[in-house]
Amino acid sequence: MANIKNKNNLIISSPLRGDERGAIIYFDNTATSFPKPDSVVEALNNYVVNIGANPGRSGHSLAIEAGEIVFNARNRLARMFGVKNPMRVVFGFNATDALNTAIKGFMNKGDHVVTTAMEHNSTIRPLKQLEAEGLISLTVAEADDTGIVDISKIENHITGKTTLVVVNHVSNVNGAIQDVEAIGRICKKHGIALLVDGAQSAGYMPVNINKANIDMYAFTGHKGLYGTQGTGGLIFNDSFYYKKLRPFRTGGTGSRSADIVQPDFLPDMFESGTLNTGGIATLVAGIDFIKEKDVENILKHEQHLAKHFVTSASKRVAGFETVAFNEKNVGIVSFRIKGLSVSEIAELLSEDHGIMCRHGLHCSPLAHRTLGSFPEGTVRFGFGAFNTVEEVDYAVEALEKIATIKD
Ligand SMILES: Cc1ncc(COP(=O)(O)O)c(C=O)c1O
Repeated sequence: MANIKNKNNLIISSPLRGDERGAIIYFDNTATSFPKPDSVVEALNNYVVNIGANPGRSGHSLAIEAGEIVFNARNRLARMFGVKNPMRVVFGFNATDALNTAIKGFMNKGDHVVTTAMEHNSTIRPLKQLEAEGLISLTVAEADDTGIVDISKIENHITGKTTLVVVNHVSNVNGAIQDVEAIGRICKKHGIALLVDGAQSAGYMPVNINKANIDMYAFTGHKGLYGTQGTGGLIFNDSFYYKKLRPFRTGGTGSRSADIVQPDFLPDMFESGTLNTGGIATLVAGIDFIKEKDVENILKHEQHLAKHFVTSASKRVAGFETVAFNEKNVGIVSFRIKGLSVSEIAELLSEDHGIMCRHGLHCSPLAHRTLGSFPEGTVRFGFGAFNTVEEVDYAVEALEKIATIKD
């Protein structure tokens, strides 16, 4: 298997692929997973070199092949997330796009929404926009200092005007997992729709949309699903009345071309314009990769790395402190070193040690407020399927050195 090289010609560590340990260590999988499996690279290459056509438009054989890629991705996503009808998978371009499709499509004047204090800006900003425009009212349910929302608080906030509950499934700050099944039961009891931001759960842990009563699940393709950027979408469960949504984007769909009004069937109602077919080809390969490795095994592997990192760094790195770490969360660690700014730590990790991570507020000021790390934020290590214990040990050594700088 060929080694992947970055622009400086350094071999990127990729142990699950049998590569040697390289000069770059990538712990920024929570932002975007990297490296991608070889099969993902091959799928993109195959589409660009051998197919290249527009799916669902022309009738020639290349267009049909492109259409098959999209159909295969829809099928795999439906199966992966426990939905029977693959047409209920609607492609967009990332989780933000899907969340906007859901939020702006679903809300009507006078509606009330309950969301949580662990949301990413991708949900809270569209909600705040609608609130500022006087269209909706909004209540933010608090979470405890571990990032878990008390389910009874969500229920207490429901009023006669509440039509939607919006919940971030897994925090991108500390990996805290909300009990979406319990929230789904409450929503069902009150006849309210549930929208879940699955940016950090899709591919990171098993999710069953029908079983959890999730009406709309927004996913992104470039994180836990190991696809490329510019992929993602919204999945409706098998019973949700999707016609309640106004399409956020309308236009050409390749279907019903004689009609000058938007089709009202799935997935076309929400899929106007040419899709990112190359990206969707990478999703097919990414999902196959996860299936082969088994999502539960990947989760255990990433949790093991997170726990090993925290245990080892707590012993060896002076002033090391985590923010709301829990070994049962998905494999994300937010931390600081007393006496150093998070930007200094991240810069030194990158410049002196070749370790890639993200620092600051991670587009989640609400979550950082909840966890007590606002306004400076944290340094975040987000582990992926290709990371190893050796890389974690190397990072701890690097942090040991960095921690001495403050003295
Ligand atoms: C919890 C959460 N929601 C939404 C997003 C937005 O994802 P995307 O950039 O793919 O739109 C992210 C990305 O980091 C995230 O972590």
